Amino acid sequence: MAPLVFFSAILALALPLAASPVSSVSSNSSNTSTCTTPIVRKEWRRLSSCQKKSYIKAVQCLMNKPPITSVADVPNVKTRYDDFLATHIVQADECHFTAIFYPYHRWLLHNYELALADCGWTEGQPYWDWTLDAGSPYDFVNSPVFDAKTGFGGNGALVPGNFSNPDPDVLLISPLDLPDHSGGGCIDDGPFAGLSTSLGPFANVTGTSPYCVRRDFSYNALTTNSGAASVATQMASPNFGTWDYNTEFSIHPGGHWAIGGIYGTMSDKWSSVADPLFWLHHSNLDRAWWSWQTRDLEARVTDFSGPLIAFDYSNALGGNATLETEVYIGLTEKLSITVKDAMHIQQGPFCYTYDEIY
Ligand SMILES: *[C@@H]1O[C@H](CO)[C@@H](O)[C@H](O)[C@H]1NC(C)=O
Ligand SMILES: *[C@@H]1O[C@H](CO)[C@@H](O)[C@H](O)[C@H]1NC(C)=O
Ligand SMILES: *[C@@H]1O[C@H](CO)[C@@H](O)[C@H](O)[C@H]1NC(C)=O
Ligand SMILES: *[C@@H]1O[C@H](CO)[C@@H](O)[C@H](O)[C@H]1NC(C)=O
Ligand SMILES: *[C@@H]1O[C@H](CO)[C@@H](O)[C@H](O)[C@H]1NC(C)=O
Repeated sequence: MAPLVFFSAILALALPLAASPVSSVSSNSSNTSTCTTPIVRKEWRRLSSCQKKSYIKAVQCLMNKPPITSVADVPNVKTRYDDFLATHIVQADECHFTAIFYPYHRWLLHNYELALADCGWTEGQPYWDWTLDAGSPYDFVNSPVFDAKTGFGGNGALVPGNFSNPDPDVLLISPLDLPDHSGGGCIDDGPFAGLSTSLGPFANVTGTSPYCVRRDFSYNALTTNSGAASVATQMASPNFGTWDYNTEFSIHPGGHWAIGGIYGTMSDKWSSVADPLFWLHHSNLDRAWWSWQTRDLEARVTDFSGPLIAFDYSNALGGNATLETEVYIGLTEKLSITVKDAMHIQQGPFCYTYDEIY
């Protein structure tokens, strides 16, 4: 049942989107400025309570600002936050299980960070280090990132059912069973309690009525895929192709499924951005890439390859991506970058670092 939902959503969208007009592509990957004082991205729990509140306020500000995306391009776009959600939905099939997965999300995060700065937060996109919470189910549910006062709120109320027999009233989101899923309801505490969106689920950006963002904590997905042992295994990847392939099936889904479970928004390949925790998870994933790169920076700042078309790891359908491959975000105002300019976090348009690396 789930695969049918996935595919019908994609097929129905493919034609209208391909035909919709977009403005010209502007280049945003100039390398003229020098990065002397990089922004320091920090682990959520290393921010003060005051900083945490200020970050959350900036996210809420994005959720209350008008969008840049035109409704001619994406009918349901309502806010500045939706600009980022919409572009991720529409591009999800070209930026996952393809070579550009890491540069695409680095570029998306950077532009989100700039948008947060326009909303008063200039201290860098915080990250969620999964390994700090993967030790036990208790550590996970009590993570500071889920705190109702100084975090993003916690799990949704329990929705019964499993992958083969889901609750008939709640849409099944994940592509596989997570037998220890423990929630499934809407976010019901914290600053995002009752948060809803009208983009998604899946690839739907046209007619959806607002629906709530759900959480469905599933600890086993976190400890198996994104715990310290898994991170250490991935760090030993010998080249970008191996790193990208292996991490797109391990540390990346781990964080998504641990929060999203079988019913939750974070398990939605297209619309997971609707949960503001998306950004903390992906900031950590970018940090993981940078951690891997810094183990041999000279070589790895130019090590890049992989399929141009999703899952085409033998390059039978498309080619092998290169440093000259173009990546863009934005549907009305496109922001583009060449992969070679997205390989270093203190070069090209980037000027940030992480307080700690793996
Ligand atoms: C991208 O470039 C355009 C002009 O080409 C500029 O107006 C815009 O601010 C730039 N955006 C970023 C994120 O650098
Ligand atoms: C799913 O739930 C149904 C109904 O409760 C049960 O019969 C089935 O064994 C469950 N499947 C799994 C894989 O747990
Ligand atoms: C999007 O959602 C609306 C409302 O539920 C539905 O009518 C429409 O068919 C959906 N579109 C796609 C592409 O799934
Ligand atoms: C793609 O390019 C990389 C780097 O040159 C190479 O190692 C890999 O074998 C290529 N992939 C395929 C399927 O040819
Ligand atoms: C940016 O400029 C510096 C200094 O000229 C150079 O070393 C670096 O390779 C350039 N980086 C990119 C991504 O073009």
